[in-house]
Amino acid sequence: MAHDHMIEMLDLDAEVLHDYHRELTQWVGREAGDHPRVVDLGAGSGTGSLALARDLPGSTVTAVDVSPDMLAHLRARADAAGLGDRIRTVEADLDQPWPDLGPTDVIWAASSMHHMADPARALTSAFGTLRPGGLLVIAELDSFPLFLAGTPDEDLERRGHAEMARRRDEAGLHMHENWPTRINTAGFGAVNERRFDIDLRPPLPPATARYAEVSLLRMRDALEGRLATADLAALEKAATGTATRTDLSVRTTRTVWLARR
Ligand SMILES: C[S@@+](CC[C@H](N)C(=O)[O-])C[C@H]1O[C@@H](n2cnc3c(N)ncnc32)[C@H](O)[C@@H]1O
Repeated sequence: MAHDHMIEMLDLDAEVLHDYHRELTQWVGREAGDHPRVVDLGAGSGTGSLALARDLPGSTVTAVDVSPDMLAHLRARADAAGLGDRIRTVEADLDQPWPDLGPTDVIWAASSMHHMADPARALTSAFGTLRPGGLLVIAELDSFPLFLAGTPDEDLERRGHAEMARRRDEAGLHMHENWPTRINTAGFGAVNERRFDIDLRPPLPPATARYAEVSLLRMRDALEGRLATADLAALEKAATGTATRTDLSVRTTRTVWLARR
């Protein structure tokens, strides 16, 4: 059975890591100025677009993604939240020459830059899109969260993460870029870096068990043929048991870089 719950997983990330997302949006809000025109690159299910439209007064957001499914989901969420008139969607492959995205004060790229075939070229396009003095925000993750640290399943989950990291490297994802150097090389000024070490312990947000389940099932499916059959079965068992566990936690690191054109 396929468990490709990418959209749900992104939405759950926003819910479970709510404090991180809020702190990041507030930081960007302080830097962005009034009525910012924001472009959200690789907007996905809409976590950034919705938060920026909601929390940055007078902002408008252009959400760009290559996936029509993501954009349809984002549009439905925006409309349901009463933000539909502040968010427009643009379907585009950012590995190709970019469409004209209009005057732009803020470019936001959360967990999307590592997907670009050529991050240097994408950053050059971002530089060309931003007005002088405009703000670039890049957020990246080392890996998806660990949920089973300190439990009997800790080693299993760590093996899964290590294999996922190898898989991402083989797929050519840019997980190990020196982003500050890349940002400067594209022409931006001084880079402000902030690292968020997230370590949530019980009592956890209610959506945590489902987030752990979906994440572990996606990992299990992605590692079919790459992990021993017994490990795959153990991952499935751990995933489907999250609802009744009392030993879950959420540990992950996000790093964010801000720079001005
Ligand atoms: C891991 S998701 C991040 C989504 C969202 N920014 C967030 O923080 O939840 C990466 C997104 O980048 C999009 N993406 C990947 N490659 C792309 C490309 N070449 N052009 C446009 N979007 C792309 C994917 O469709 C996906 O929605």
